[in-house]
Amino acid sequence: MNEEQNKVVQEAQQSAVPLLSQPADATDSRTPPWVQDFPVETEQDNYVARRDFTKFMVLTSCAFAAGQAWIGLKSIADARAPRPAEKLVARIDEIAVGQTLTFNYPAEHDPCLLLRLSETEFVAYSQKCTHLSCAVVPGENRTLHCPCHEGVFDCTNGRPLAGPPRRPLPRITLQLRDGSIYATGVEVSTV
Ligand code: FES
Repeated sequence: MNEEQNKVVQEAQQSAVPLLSQPADATDSRTPPWVQDFPVETEQDNYVARRDFTKFMVLTSCAFAAGQAWIGLKSIADARAPRPAEKLVARIDEIAVGQTLTFNYPAEHDPCLLLRLSETEFVAYSQKCTHLSCAVVPGENRTLHCPCHEGVFDCTNGRPLAGPPRRPLPRITLQLRDGSIYATGVEVSTV
């Protein structure tokens, strides 16, 4: 290489653009304008991502723990709640086998369904679907049907058979005496 060529090579090395993995100093006069406008701070980006992920995990864990605590406290409160008062629902001869009858229990705004499954078998459930509280109605083949999202419950035990509901319908306990049917309590189960 002659002297002229050496000079050209030295000038080219001095004006070479730095690699992205080695971020250029924004004040470096050799840094191209686009690197200054959109700097790639790889290490800083990784640090922020880890910090955000940790923050997300902590918040998620706190929310989960708070939810579990709330469920536990609610279960204790429900267990200690006084049993609802007994209420006359209907006379036995007012409902034929296969028929249903609506009533409210334990409060006036709590709709329920009484079903007579056989001569001696009566069951009653809250009419509020355990998915989003639409009113269930009698369906085919001893089922209760929720028209909102096609939920289906088994009439004999209130358990969900199809659709989005995952929990059984709250069951109204009954007592038969003196030719009449009385509601005596509400049983809520999660399975
Ligand atoms: S409210 Fe009953 S299935 Fe959605």
